[in-house]
Amino acid sequence: MKALAGLRELVRHAKKARRRAHAPYSHFKVGAALRTRDGEIVTGCNIENASYGLTICAERTAVFKAVSEGLKAFDAISVVADSPRVAAPCGPCRQILWEFCGDIWVHMENLQGVGRTLRMSELLPHPFDRRNL
Ligand code: THU
Repeated sequence: MKALAGLRELVRHAKKARRRAHAPYSHFKVGAALRTRDGEIVTGCNIENASYGLTICAERTAVFKAVSEGLKAFDAISVVADSPRVAAPCGPCRQILWEFCGDIWVHMENLQGVGRTLRMSELLPHPFDRRNL
């Protein structure tokens, strides 16, 4: 697999964003850092709500921030959580990442530095997208 350039910097941004997570209900903080093909980095964290279903994941926060700023072409996202098993994006986040980012690199890492890097097409091998419409 091709090495992902600038990965440590992306993880550093995700860890910093994770510290801003609002997770008083699950106490499970997640940080994400999404990178454009030009090298711009947009971060996100999970933001929970007393009405639990309104919670937004770190990955979607990052994607929606980036899209709302007019950013379009992405090449990688890093996701950091304090999880013994490296945490992969949830199903809805995979769908959103596919819609706006396509087949980008997804690097997942825990606080012990255990990491895994996959392509979106490995996480969502049979996507539903505009080609189906
Ligand atoms: N969470 C994320 O931020 N990203 C994921 O991909 C999985 C789950 C958050 C949502 C919730 O605030 C907490 O983790 C526990 O599910």
